[in-house]
Amino acid sequence: MSKLAPRTRFFYYDDLAAALSYKEAASPYTHSLNGTWQFCYLQSPREIPEAFTTGDYGAIDWATIKVPGHMELQGYGKPNYTNVDFPIPVDPTAMPAENPTGLYFRRFTFKPQLTRQILRFDGVDSTFKVWLNGQLVGDGHGSRLMTEFDVTDLLVAGENTIAVQVGKWSKYSFLEDQDQWWLSGIFRDVTIVDEGRLDDLQLTPQFKDGQWQVQVAIEAAADPKLSGKVYFAGETIAEADLANGKTTIDIPDPHEWTDETPNLYTLVVQDETAGAMVPMRFGLRRVEMIDDQICLNGVPVLFNGVNRHEFNPETGRALTQDYILSEVTQIKRAGINAIRTSHYPNTPYFYDVCDELGLLVIDECDLETHGMYVTEMPTNDPYWRGEFVSRAQRMVHRDFNHPCVVIWSLGNESDFGENHVAEAAAIRELDASRLIHYEGDRDTVVADMYSTMYTSVEDIEKRAVKLTHQKPHILCEYGHAMGNGAGSLQDYQDLFHLYKSVQGGFIWEWKDHGLKQDTPDGPKYVWGGAFGEPVNDATFCIDGLVRPDRVPSPGLLEYEHVIQPFQFFAAQNHVVVKSLYHYRTTHDLVLRWQLTVAGDNVASGKLALPPLAPGALSPVFALDLPEIIGADALLNFAIETTTKLGVFEAGAKLAYEQVAYQGLPNLADAPAEVSQTPATVTITRGALTVTVDRGTGNVTQLSQGGQPLLAGDMALTLDRLPISNDMNVVAERQKKRITTLFARCEGLQITQNDDTVMVAIRQRIAPPAINWGIELAVTVWVSAAGVTIRTKGWFDGEKPTEVPRIGYQLPLKTTVKTVDWFGRGTGESYPDSLDAAPLGRYHLSRDQWGFPYVVPQESGNRMGVRWATIATTAGPAVHVAGLAPVNLNVVGGDGLPLGDQTTDQVRLDARVQALGSNSCGPRPLKRYRLYTDSFDFTVTMSLKD
Ligand code: GAL
Ligand code: MG
Repeated sequence: MSKLAPRTRFFYYDDLAAALSYKEAASPYTHSLNGTWQFCYLQSPREIPEAFTTGDYGAIDWATIKVPGHMELQGYGKPNYTNVDFPIPVDPTAMPAENPTGLYFRRFTFKPQLTRQILRFDGVDSTFKVWLNGQLVGDGHGSRLMTEFDVTDLLVAGENTIAVQVGKWSKYSFLEDQDQWWLSGIFRDVTIVDEGRLDDLQLTPQFKDGQWQVQVAIEAAADPKLSGKVYFAGETIAEADLANGKTTIDIPDPHEWTDETPNLYTLVVQDETAGAMVPMRFGLRRVEMIDDQICLNGVPVLFNGVNRHEFNPETGRALTQDYILSEVTQIKRAGINAIRTSHYPNTPYFYDVCDELGLLVIDECDLETHGMYVTEMPTNDPYWRGEFVSRAQRMVHRDFNHPCVVIWSLGNESDFGENHVAEAAAIRELDASRLIHYEGDRDTVVADMYSTMYTSVEDIEKRAVKLTHQKPHILCEYGHAMGNGAGSLQDYQDLFHLYKSVQGGFIWEWKDHGLKQDTPDGPKYVWGGAFGEPVNDATFCIDGLVRPDRVPSPGLLEYEHVIQPFQFFAAQNHVVVKSLYHYRTTHDLVLRWQLTVAGDNVASGKLALPPLAPGALSPVFALDLPEIIGADALLNFAIETTTKLGVFEAGAKLAYEQVAYQGLPNLADAPAEVSQTPATVTITRGALTVTVDRGTGNVTQLSQGGQPLLAGDMALTLDRLPISNDMNVVAERQKKRITTLFARCEGLQITQNDDTVMVAIRQRIAPPAINWGIELAVTVWVSAAGVTIRTKGWFDGEKPTEVPRIGYQLPLKTTVKTVDWFGRGTGESYPDSLDAAPLGRYHLSRDQWGFPYVVPQESGNRMGVRWATIATTAGPAVHVAGLAPVNLNVVGGDGLPLGDQTTDQVRLDARVQALGSNSCGPRPLKRYRLYTDSFDFTVTMSLKD
């Protein structure tokens, strides 16, 4: 049999420069058979003329076809779009009587130069047979996999003929039911490659005892004379004698490959006998599970990915190298760092581009049996086991050397069973250096990660908060970008940042697959049904982030912003950026800022970023802003490149953000100092001191001139004294234990400049005994404005549906004397009872604050408070300003209505629950209720002696 066993794809070259260029066309030993072929389209294989099988090609009435290309897009048959359902009867044992068949034929001249000649098909859909000079060479299947034949004995020097018979439907079609247009033909390259003695070459990067190495595994015809040199950036950095079997080469001064730093090495194997060489690129990277997380070079990965079908609106899955390069460049420029090759191995060149540009690839096997659910899925049928396994082996062999491939995927939507187990075992035997993915493996029997599709934010949270040892979760598909969409991408991204067990996902999908049709009114893009297909899935193929012509939809713009590599924190005239990079630094980037008031540019500037370590905060940058500004003041920030960086031109915008400007306080400058112990962080600025507890993450003290304000933690709490109209919900509140919350600090970063400090705190708040909590991202600024606290929170787990309030409780050391405020007043106000409380400037003493309900209960909330000054009987007064209006209340230190307590507490709430009349009547209207959605609020406090 002349069919080759699966192996990697390589080319011989005659000189080093050509070899290092890595371009197939630069190899004198590569003979492309792409181009125009003669073609005969038949309705069924029964119509094949005898002349074709006997080699009497002149007797056939030929038309022409372009190779690579699809028959259906060149006037032979029609495209058919289906998602799940098969357009033919579901019976792998019998093909439909009408089974479109294409006969291909061409002549070519060839001069063998090296030892043997291989005929290589990179993709033929779905089965084929090939004849060379009238002799049957063999047959092939596996539409998106490489098939190679040794044709040394059949090729002649001079003119040759090649004939190929392609069948559209085959039993293998039932394993290739991916959601896409059914398009057949020779749709990838056909090449004759002239080779020396090398049969196969596998490069495995290894990191052992602090040393990077590449393991070179060679299979070659007996007694090869081989040597190898490793090149990096055009220079030889290592060399070794090579032989059949394994050799290890140490890599000095290593430059690791990551999606952010796509450093590529090239091993050039000199085949002395042939007098020619084979280049093979590799990257120094290791993929492994550390602490239940998928790690690349020791760092947990966050997949900001897309699913990508191979598709061009004019040529279907036949893509040119230029098209692939420009599309992957567009993906990389969007800040996307990962691609799942949904749902089959891609054109080989795609992986070269991903290696070069830095994209993490989940390489998926050409295997989807989706529509077979109507009979029986083949996954447990031993008949199909060999085919499952060999498809995986063919993928792994072909793509083994590409650093971009970090995960092998067993396929898509084919249920789960024994054949998958066998497939996974075969992959592991071939390649222990990567991880395995399969969404259908719900119990992660063989998969290294738990992978799901379209899981809701709530369901992701439920698994994420389980504090058990578990495999990481990725969303192999989410954010269905069909038409106008997908929504909530930021909500997903928040989860990816909050929970270490959720490592990101892949949007479904990159591009609309609408086929282009010319009409008198210009070109238009069509979907399923446009060709009169009786079985079709209509617009389900129009579900991408870009149109078929690759014009970005608003959905892509949203995704780009959601996954941008920087976070911005701002308070008054201060800004801090956080690098979300995993590997690279930021010395080549600048921060641009601009202040606009009612849309007019008022001030702007540019600051160089220092080299920030991955995940680090920048220093506090003070912006030169005018002191007095009107309403609608906004700060716009952008991070830009200063030089060309990979796919980004100089000046490209990598991230941007807009925040409302809080205005400049009219307070004096003073140096700020941070002192730290294992238990606390204390920030002193002028007379103000702020203490944060490292264990809980809470602010534990605020003092002015040595006078402390607080008697306990300024904690985020949810409870208040029930009102009579709460009588039917108090039991539920008790069940959810909202009164007893434990706070734990999950992370704390400090940054500063001379007079301003910012502390970024990650906190988790959770009740005892039951499974829910709140993840908090809190920034505490200490500046001329006092202390500014921005709090973002996300509820998770079996959370209560509603809570009485969300906000800070400040237990004072003393009691409140008077309150001056601008907000609703003078009396109390709640979301569904505020019309008698107009906005205004008010003053009340403590005994006037709450209403003396006969049955003691919650009272005294003031909504819409822009600022307030709370004077205390001893110790500092508190001045509060909310960037957006907050709720203010004062109650006794014991949580009871104000009376003769000796201490009070102040509440600064983001939101409070409505009243309703449920003691006898209905609960509050839904629009007033306080649901446990995520929240985000900011308060600034300054203390006065
Ligand atoms: C998934 C499937 C994708 C696509 C998507 C819907 O179930 O894996 O191939 O069909 O749904 O657009
Ligand atoms: Mg499907």
